[in-house]
Amino acid sequence: MLVTSQDISEVGSSVASGKLVVHTDSPDETRTWGRRLGERLQAGDFVALCGPLGAGKTCFVQGLGQGLGISSPITSPTFILIRQHPGPVPLCHADAYRVASAEELEDAGLTDCLADSVVALEWADRVPQIWPEALYIVQIALHNDGRRLELSARGRRPTEALSELADAYSGN
Ligand SMILES: Nc1ncnc2c1ncn2[C@@H]1O[C@H](COP(=O)(O)OP(=O)(O)OP(=O)(O)O)[C@@H](O)[C@H]1O
Ligand SMILES: [Mg+2]
Repeated sequence: MLVTSQDISEVGSSVASGKLVVHTDSPDETRTWGRRLGERLQAGDFVALCGPLGAGKTCFVQGLGQGLGISSPITSPTFILIRQHPGPVPLCHADAYRVASAEELEDAGLTDCLADSVVALEWADRVPQIWPEALYIVQIALHNDGRRLELSARGRRPTEALSELADAYSGN
């Protein structure tokens, strides 16, 4: 995992402010951070993914799936809105890119998924009105030929889990 010294100091300061910031040089590195977060998730957790076209949101969710023990292939749900993946902890993978309103996702059953699944929503910034109070936010930006991932959390359990993740991997 290539992390520049600037990024290491950024990780350190970001942990203090409740954020974990890392740089990834490849899709595999982005998946690795997704897996690390996925290993810490449980049914009812909501992951809001934000970032421009091609940022790596689906790539990160593929890592989440690895961490959750999902064996079915994870591909973009842009055209079907929601794709459910069974597993030890089921994953509900959704995409708000094409929806005209948050109700479309509600009608497709997004909130119901939280009862027994982890929900990962791409383009989540388009429908902030359906974000639960407690959640993980993954903001991805293109940065120096790679990607800058900023992970933050709201609510007690996500904040504790993110802090534990940061402690486990800060610096690498
Ligand atoms: N460090 C990196 N992390 C993630 N993806 C990367 C990275 N470097 C290059 N890529 C490439 O960027 C693309 C990311 O695609 P992906 O479908 O995950 O993005 P997305 O944010 O889900 O896009 P969309 O907005 O269309 O849903 C892939 O082609 C991947 O190979
Ligand atoms: Mg995508």
